[in-house]
Amino acid sequence: MLSKEFVFGVATAAFQIEGGVADRLPCIWDTFCSEPNKIKDASNGDVACDHYNKWQDDVKLISSLGVDAYRLSISWPRVITESGELNQKGVNYYLAILDELAKHNIKAFVTLYHWDLPQHLENLGGWLNRETAYKFREYADLISKAFGDRVHSYATLNEPFCSAYLGYEAGIHAPGKTGRENGKKAAHHLLLAHGLAMEVLNRNSPNAINGIVLNFTPAYAVDDMEENIEAAKFADDYFNQWYIKPLFDGKYPEILQQLPENCRPDISPEDMKIISHPIDFLGINFYTRSVYRANPDDFFEELPATGQLTDIGWEIYPQAFTHLLTSLNNLYKLPPIYITENGAAMADEIVDNEVKDLDRIDYYQLHLLALNEAITQGVNVHGYFAWSLMDNFEWAEGYLKRFGIVHVDYHTQVRTIKSSGFAYKNLISNRR
Ligand code: FCB
Repeated sequence: MLSKEFVFGVATAAFQIEGGVADRLPCIWDTFCSEPNKIKDASNGDVACDHYNKWQDDVKLISSLGVDAYRLSISWPRVITESGELNQKGVNYYLAILDELAKHNIKAFVTLYHWDLPQHLENLGGWLNRETAYKFREYADLISKAFGDRVHSYATLNEPFCSAYLGYEAGIHAPGKTGRENGKKAAHHLLLAHGLAMEVLNRNSPNAINGIVLNFTPAYAVDDMEENIEAAKFADDYFNQWYIKPLFDGKYPEILQQLPENCRPDISPEDMKIISHPIDFLGINFYTRSVYRANPDDFFEELPATGQLTDIGWEIYPQAFTHLLTSLNNLYKLPPIYITENGAAMADEIVDNEVKDLDRIDYYQLHLLALNEAITQGVNVHGYFAWSLMDNFEWAEGYLKRFGIVHVDYHTQVRTIKSSGFAYKNLISNRR
C-alpha cells in the first residue's frame, strides 16, 4: 500500500454535499426529507456543504491533502431532464469539476447512482419498476458520452443493498417504502440497471475502469450453536451475497428458494447474463459487522451492537475487514478491488480551529492495517478511499453524524482539516 501505484483517495456523494437544489429536478431524498420524522434533525439537502458553489475551493482542499483520486457522484436529476435529454447546465457543472481535478492531477472516480433517483421516476414506481433500469442505461449512455475521456473510473451504483433494502423494504431511507415483498424486486432492477449500464460504459469509455460499488456488513453468529451459525449464514446471503453472487456467478444465493413466492424478484430469461457482465473492478465499502442469532419466528435476528462503537453506533471490528476480503477472494474470481469507502463517525469537537479526532485516526489506522493484512494474504487491492472528504448530510441521521476528515461548519461553510486529515495526508506523502 505504500507504493506510489496504490491509489489513495477521498470520497463524497452529490446529495450529501452539493446543495444547489434550484438548478436540478427533485429527487427521492428531497421528498423523503420533506416528510415528518424521517430525518433525525429534520434537515434536508437544500444547501448541505454548498459544494455547488464552493467546488473550486473544495478541489483545492482535496489537492492539498495530496490524494491521488477523488470519488464523487453525479446527480442524475441535475444532468437529465424529465424528457430524458441532457441538461447542459448540469453537465457543464461536472465538466468543470472534472477538468479542475485533471489540472490538479487527481483521478476522477465517478459514481453514477448514489441514491438520488429523480422523483418523476419514483412516481412511476422507482426501482420497483423494471423500466427504471432502462432509464438508467439511457442516463449512463448520455453522460458517459458527454464526459468523454475525463473519467478514470465509473461505478454504476453505490450500495444497491441500501437502495433496495433500506429504501423499499425497511423504509428508513428514501423513498421510504416498506414490505418484505419489495426489497428483492428493487434489488433485481438495480442489478439489471448495473448490467445494462456496464455494456454502455465499456462502449463509450473503453479506457475507464468500470464497475460497481457494494457494501458489506459481515454477518457473525453470536456463538457456536448450529442454529445461530445458520441464522448468520442466512443473513449473510440476504444482505451481502445477494448483491455479489449474481455479478460473478450469474445467480442469486440458494435462499431464494426459501423466500415466499411473493418476495422473489421477477427474473426475465436474459437478466442474469446481463447482470454478470464482466467488470473491471469491484468497489467495496466497509464500516462494521453485525451479529445474529436464530429466531423461531423469522429467518434470523440481529442483535444490538456491543463493544467499542463509533458515534453512529457501529461496532469497531477491523478483523472483519480482513476476513471479508479474504473470504470473498476465496468465493469468487474477483477483478481488482478498490476500497471505495471506509471511515467513522465521531463526536468531534472544534476547539481553537482544531479538531483533534484521535479516535478517528485510530479507526483508520486499525482498518488500514486490516486491509494490509488482507493484501498480504493475497487479495488484489488497488486503492482505498476515506469516507468522507468532509462532514456532510448523513442521510436519515441528517447533519448530526460527522464522517469527514475535514470539519464543516454548517453556518459559515468554513472547512477545517481535522487531525485525521493531516494524518492521512502524512501517510500519503510519505510513500516511496
Ligand atoms: C455508506 C454510504 C455513504 C455514507 C456512509 C457513512 O453507506 O454510501 O453515502 O453515508 O455510508
